Amino acid sequence: MSSVVVVGAQWGDEGKGKITNALCSDADLVVRFQGGANAGHTVSLDGVPIVFHLLPSGISVPGIQNVIGPGVVIDPIALAVEIAGVTERGVEVGENLLIDVGAHMVLPYHKALDAAEERARGQSAIGTTHRGIGPAYADRCARDGIPIGALAAFDEFRPRFEEAVARKNKHITRLYGEQPLDAREMLEQLYPVAQTLARHLADTPEMIREAIRAGLNVLFEGAQGTLLDVTFGTYPFVTSSSTTAGGVAIGTGVPPSMIGEVIGIAKAYTTRVGAGPFPTEVTDDTARMIQERGAERGATTGRARRCGWLDIVALRYSIAVNGIKRIIVTKLDVLDSFETIKVCVAYDIDGRQTDCFPRTADELGRVNPVYVEMPGWMSVTKEARHESELPPRALAYLNEICRLADVDLCSVSVGAKGEAIVEFTSVF
Ligand code: IMO
Ligand code: MG
Repeated sequence: MSSVVVVGAQWGDEGKGKITNALCSDADLVVRFQGGANAGHTVSLDGVPIVFHLLPSGISVPGIQNVIGPGVVIDPIALAVEIAGVTERGVEVGENLLIDVGAHMVLPYHKALDAAEERARGQSAIGTTHRGIGPAYADRCARDGIPIGALAAFDEFRPRFEEAVARKNKHITRLYGEQPLDAREMLEQLYPVAQTLARHLADTPEMIREAIRAGLNVLFEGAQGTLLDVTFGTYPFVTSSSTTAGGVAIGTGVPPSMIGEVIGIAKAYTTRVGAGPFPTEVTDDTARMIQERGAERGATTGRARRCGWLDIVALRYSIAVNGIKRIIVTKLDVLDSFETIKVCVAYDIDGRQTDCFPRTADELGRVNPVYVEMPGWMSVTKEARHESELPPRALAYLNEICRLADVDLCSVSVGAKGEAIVEFTSVF
């Protein structure tokens, strides 16, 4: 089948944007199905990095139809800024971008509430990106949200927005003791944004289904990662959407039976931004080396990412939840100068060894990782473009992690450049 889901197999930042962008030469459609401007997908454009938050990573590739599906929550102001930014970089954003009318909006009060809720959580803060994601999805579920299609009739949107602001201001002032938001000011900001976005609004589910029926190559670009899924992640230290392959069906209107393959993206090690358990986290020189070599800083918030070794227990869990048969390993080059590389193969929980990923964050917080050690390859991999150009020990590492995770290898990314990929099997 011609539809492929690219899903993060860890805690996000696996390189989904780069991979999606790289696969565009064979794709016709790229569809975002969940998340919002909390995503930070770094893609190389003419050799210079560019970060997409809401725009699908196919936007810079001519001839690709990009869709922001109904499962995404869209901050219209952030999207307009992003469109202006990429346009400045010479990328044309016209008919190649469709925004589904049913995608809910992240409005300024959602961002204010996200920040206020985080402050109120104190020590138990989740470490959100403050992009208003949780409050926007909560409003959608509570039937209090506003779909982006509403911007097309601004005169009708205006009173609906004013009424929402009046109610949210009660929360903001009475519950959190903060300053109320000014509806008029926000409407002034939203009006030109509505004009910019109006021409992209569309009814997209049938269009995507038809593309799949017609045999076009459709790529679903996941945001965040499996372990941040609101149901299957390390709750409550998760995001508020279904980041797993199942999210495609509910976030695009494409039924599970029309989804072809699910490809998992995993770094050759692990990172996490924000709070929550992370069994293989390291905090010594190793962490600093990974952080520096991998430029492990959040593309959305600029926060330093927590770093650690590859966790096979977590990876196997992701593979099971998503139905992943092939993985793409990214950032292999970051491990180039390690004499020894550790891989977590099991967890020790209260003296008992297991290879099952715990279902509660509390239990996950108590595990001790059981490691095997592998010799590093101590040579540069970033110029490799073919399997034969990878050092034997790097190949051994890749083979071993695939054996342990019981998954096939699709390709390996060895650098930030778009072409820095070694392909083992092709995606489409
Ligand atoms: P990409 O698509 C890594 C994390 C935040 C926080 C938690 C909840 O680039 O992989 P939220 O703002 O979503 O309510 O924050 O989720 N988080 C991410 N971590 N990569 C992302 O996106 C993330 N999006 C959210 O750090 O821990
Ligand atoms: Mg990211």
